[in-house]
Amino acid sequence: MTLNYAKRMDNIKASEIRELLKLTQKPEVISFAGGLPAPELFPIEELKRISKEVLEENGTAALQYGPTEGYGPLREKIAERMAKVHVDISPNDILVTSGSQQGLDFSAKIFINPGDIIICESPSYLGAINAFKAYEPKFIEIETDDEGMIMEELEEALKNNDNVKFIYVIPDFQNPSGKTWSTDRRKRLVELANRYNIAIVEDNPYGELRFEGEILPAVKHYDTEGRVIFLGTFSKIFCPGLRLGWVVADKEVLNKFIMVKQGADLQSSTISQMEVAKFLETYDIEKHIEKIKDVYRKRRDLMMKTMEEEFPKEVKFTYPNGGLFTWVVLPENINARELAVKALENNVAFVPGGSFFPNGGNENTFRMNYSNMDEERIVEGVKRLGVAIKEMMGDTIKETI
Ligand SMILES: Cc1ncc(COP(=O)(O)O)c(C=O)c1O
Repeated sequence: MTLNYAKRMDNIKASEIRELLKLTQKPEVISFAGGLPAPELFPIEELKRISKEVLEENGTAALQYGPTEGYGPLREKIAERMAKVHVDISPNDILVTSGSQQGLDFSAKIFINPGDIIICESPSYLGAINAFKAYEPKFIEIETDDEGMIMEELEEALKNNDNVKFIYVIPDFQNPSGKTWSTDRRKRLVELANRYNIAIVEDNPYGELRFEGEILPAVKHYDTEGRVIFLGTFSKIFCPGLRLGWVVADKEVLNKFIMVKQGADLQSSTISQMEVAKFLETYDIEKHIEKIKDVYRKRRDLMMKTMEEEFPKEVKFTYPNGGLFTWVVLPENINARELAVKALENNVAFVPGGSFFPNGGNENTFRMNYSNMDEERIVEGVKRLGVAIKEMMGDTIKETI
């Protein structure tokens, strides 16, 4: 039986990562594939206590419908915490969402007609690309260097296309590349967006997970005209299972988000919001984030060191100063999807990079996550991967002789 689906479904495919994650559930697989936080850092004992308190003190409210904008005390806490990325706002500038993923979906829902253009970094976050695709946009990918998007390329794209609706960026420890934008590039991005009257969607799940140096001001900090939509999340600094994120935007824009939130799910879970608000009141989340950073920093260091030792010199990778990922570029003739099959035979998983490019190509790239595996597995997994890469490179040398 084939039902008559909407045309938009032609653009929607199963996420390669989700499919891969199913295979990597087996305990023997060393997985660098997902973007999963380290589960041993989840504050389970604290949450047990808090859930009980929320139900005992305020049970009827916790189980009742609440305002679409979100639970007041949580919005207050989020507004306070936005000072960390140098954004000065009030609780009324915030909509609580079901993860930042919902903010991504809403961004496209609000701005995109079929055929409109979204400008994004090349590569960009696969989950955003897939969410956007449902609204049938075209993508223009802009190359990045170590400071962010190449501004000349961005300006060319803006000059030559009159239906660009927004520029989507992940300025801190980008998923998948691990790269971070300089403050100068952030400023120039806003200046260009002002000149061409384009919205910016700033997706920032990793900014607070900086292992060295100071947290940088968000792009939103440089927003002079209310055109930057900031998406935040508790997924990586607390836990993803509660599914809580937020949108910060100018009043007019935020009202659009609130209206589509009503249509999508009325509101985010009341009890989850009350639990997170209580956690933020009761415990020191900054201390918790420090703990996460200490663990991830060690894992990053170990992954970098082992990759330097075990990967052939021709293989290049980024050195992230925070976040969860490093990005690997193989010699051009090595296909990362083929490598993934070979690696999986040896119980090692990663995500081939091709799907992070909405317009395709770049099949010689892949993404590695270092947050989710313990130290021993990181070393063993990278070693096995090194062997698989060397074998593939050896095979292609043989084929060309
Ligand atoms: C760049 C980026 N944006 C958004 C998300 C979605 O996060 P969540 O919906 O859990 O907040 C992720 C998750 O990994 C991500 O890496």
